[in-house]
Amino acid sequence: MRTDDPTAPAGVATTLVSWYAEAARDLPWRRDPRAVDGERSPGVGGWAVLVSEVMLQQTPVARVLPAYVAWLDRWPTPAALAREPAGEAVRMWGRLGYHRRALSLHAAAAAIVARHEGEVPADLDDLLALPGVGAYTARAVASFAFGQRHPVVDTNVRRVVARLFEGQPDAAGAAATARERALVESMLPDAPSHAATFSVALMELGALVCTARSPRCALCPVSSSCAWLAAGSPAGSARRAQTYAGTDRQVRGRLLAVLRDHDGPVAADELARAWDEPQQRDRALASLLADGLARTHEDGRYALPD
Ligand code: ADE
Repeated sequence: MRTDDPTAPAGVATTLVSWYAEAARDLPWRRDPRAVDGERSPGVGGWAVLVSEVMLQQTPVARVLPAYVAWLDRWPTPAALAREPAGEAVRMWGRLGYHRRALSLHAAAAAIVARHEGEVPADLDDLLALPGVGAYTARAVASFAFGQRHPVVDTNVRRVVARLFEGQPDAAGAAATARERALVESMLPDAPSHAATFSVALMELGALVCTARSPRCALCPVSSSCAWLAAGSPAGSARRAQTYAGTDRQVRGRLLAVLRDHDGPVAADELARAWDEPQQRDRALASLLADGLARTHEDGRYALPD
């Protein structure tokens, strides 16, 4: 890594790691049981990090915190979760939204038991082969749980990199590209454990300072290197805020809440009370059944999956 040029991708790393040491939030999935003298470094167990990363993909930190604690309390290991029906994972997912993630975690737990003797694997390819674990999650677990050197590129990181190096208000396209991963890789310190700390620092900068809507450039430790700030912070095309009220997603959430609140199967009449409009209700129920988030019981009632 070259650190002599503070505006080069690699030079940014040193500055960001120092900033992170002061500014980082104390979040439970970042606590290192092996840390000495309160020093923060990646190292929480693989299962805890996998659970946190799956929850954090589409849900804000404040809502994840209690769900994460409750989940690990109930299922401290992949084997503990794999022993229970997938429906219990859906029930426990509660109101985090995007419930297919609960099924993915359950399937990943079963695969970890079947293929890895119940231990979350450290190898990137083994992680990528787990159900529901994509490019981001696999690298996040390999880095944050096992201290490896990988480019960990989520939405926040994509935005930071687009601004810093490309002068763009945001990254283009929906998913991280190989080019973005290569650019982030070029910023990583050589030592794997430093690279892992830098990766979480870059995410934290995106979450706390280089935010999508109101970036706090006056507080930014790398503002002097930022191509976007130098270009006068050109505005992007404003993203429409996602509406929730009235969507099929809301109806799915309502129906699932009814299924979760019952220990056994639920009659169609009971589900009808959760949403008046029959066509939209039927469509939402059909999609829950298709996703495996609900099942038809032998007597025609509905239940969480086995
Ligand atoms: N720390 C590690 N991964 C994180 C994430 N996805 N969101 C917030 N903090 C994190």
